[in-house]
Amino acid sequence: MYRPAKIIIDLAAIQANYRLAQSLAPDSKTIAVVKADAYGHGAVEVAKALQSQVEMFAVSCIDEALILRENGLRQAVLLLEGCFDKSELKIALDKQFEIVVHNNLQLQQLLDATLETPINVWLKIDTGMHRLGISPKEVASTYAKLQASTNVHNVVLMTHFAHADDVGGAYSVNQISQFEACTQAIVSDTQQKVQLSTANSAALLAWQQTRMDWNRPGIMLYGLSPFAEPLEQAKALIPAMSFESQVIALRNISAGESVGYGCTWTAKRPSVIATIAIGYGDGYPRTAKLGTPVLINHQRVPLAARVSMDLISVDVTDLPKVNIGDTAQLWGKELSANEVASWADTIGYELVTRMPRRITRQYSN
Ligand SMILES: Cc1ncc(COP(=O)(O)O)c(C=O)c1O
Repeated sequence: MYRPAKIIIDLAAIQANYRLAQSLAPDSKTIAVVKADAYGHGAVEVAKALQSQVEMFAVSCIDEALILRENGLRQAVLLLEGCFDKSELKIALDKQFEIVVHNNLQLQQLLDATLETPINVWLKIDTGMHRLGISPKEVASTYAKLQASTNVHNVVLMTHFAHADDVGGAYSVNQISQFEACTQAIVSDTQQKVQLSTANSAALLAWQQTRMDWNRPGIMLYGLSPFAEPLEQAKALIPAMSFESQVIALRNISAGESVGYGCTWTAKRPSVIATIAIGYGDGYPRTAKLGTPVLINHQRVPLAARVSMDLISVDVTDLPKVNIGDTAQLWGKELSANEVASWADTIGYELVTRMPRRITRQYSN
């Protein structure tokens, strides 16, 4: 590959972020969420880097779980959306995947199946996200059906927060109390200890009471904070993805001249424009506004044209020295993907997850 646009994934950073997640809740187990190709960081490479520390990975579906198995990962894998079809149940059992049950159709398919050995189930309760999960009213009866089934081994109760990044917010307080009410009812009905799981990254970082038997951090493993505002607990996270390219052209333009498609940026003074080999075809957001920061030689410069497919242009008039071939960083350790995302009306999650096939991916330790 000769095109200089690339992402470099720091696997040691992911390992350190995982250790941080585990250290926040030393008595819990920390599942590494590697769905959507590990949020764009490469699920197989990330899982291999974490396999000596991690007991369980979580992915969205069986296709993603099979990729981990095909690449030699032996840990348990949780399917966060469960099975889409009853035919997946036998594969899940055979491959030692654990399944979420989030609706009555999945429940019935599991109860009706003929499985050679029982499977581990995660019963998802809808405490307020209102996308997946059974209603709190149905939890006790659903749990009883699962317990009575010879197809079911262990049942973990789980829920997912809608707004855990709102630290101290009433919505999560309500979700936590609904979850507690459901789980306490089951414990008193069955007189058994039940395993529980609620925390995503935001909850794990900011809501101590959500740290239960199993935590499920995703974004924090990749070094991005789930919070819009800086938060002490998230400061130690190390961004794992560095998105880089090079300056491939430099020109002087006069005041009044414009740069790029649509002539959206016009020089107010005699200016020096650097053009970088990166564009929306490489995963840089087209919605990035004029002024979005870019680093050239570790110094911030503002985006000075509309983002095109293969190129962006920045105003380097105030930099003492810029040369063709200089490194440009679009996001990474010195410029957070979250900050760039805020200039592009999106979130860091989306930026890192949707990197296109054309971008070269390199790994460092
Ligand atoms: C059920 C579930 N648990 C955990 C996570 C991880 O969330 P985060 O990346 O915010 O830590 C997700 C992500 O969407 C999820 O759907």
